[in-house]
Amino acid sequence: MRAFSATLFIAVASLSVSAAKFDKRDVPYNPQICIGDINTLSQQLVVIKTTVDAFEPSVGFEAAMEIHNEEQVLEHLLEQTYRGCCVNSPANIKEEEEAATIEAIGNYVSHAAAAISAMEIKKPDFDVTPPATEHFRGHIVDLTGMIKDLFSCIAFNTPKKSLPIIKEYNSTVADAFARAKAVYAED
Ligand SMILES: *[C@@H]1O[C@H](CO)[C@@H](O)[C@H](O)[C@H]1NC(C)=O
Repeated sequence: MRAFSATLFIAVASLSVSAAKFDKRDVPYNPQICIGDINTLSQQLVVIKTTVDAFEPSVGFEAAMEIHNEEQVLEHLLEQTYRGCCVNSPANIKEEEEAATIEAIGNYVSHAAAAISAMEIKKPDFDVTPPATEHFRGHIVDLTGMIKDLFSCIAFNTPKKSLPIIKEYNSTVADAFARAKAVYAED
């Protein structure tokens, strides 16, 4: 148990390090890569929701580790998506690429909201599985920052007329994270 918690907290610490190395790349924007990465993120969010839903406090810490592992995969995929979507040069994308991007983001936002709400529902079960709640509280904070960065890149690549919808999606995700943060701040 003690060894497990140490591993978890080291993992939390290393998240902030990986978040700090995000830099926009000096390559032309490739919408297909960005869209593909966002869709991969959505699939991982489905996996996370399923794993969270299946969490049984009686299984204890190993079950929390399973969620932790899937969240690590998500963070890795977020870094990959950042590399795929965040570039320095302004994008010049076609109508259909714009539509496909918006569709991918819309899916992503609904899967993210579903995964976050599953985390909120399971919070009382995590509370009886120390240090799961504390650990996931850390994940929520780190993910909030990563997703904010990603949305700023996506907004940068989005033609003006589609910006309102991107901002709306951004607010939906930001609100969901803010709610989860409040729930996880409670003891
Ligand atoms: C997304 O929402 C966050 C939190 O409200 C905000 O700080 C950020 O500027 C927004 N990003 C975009 C691209 O609208």
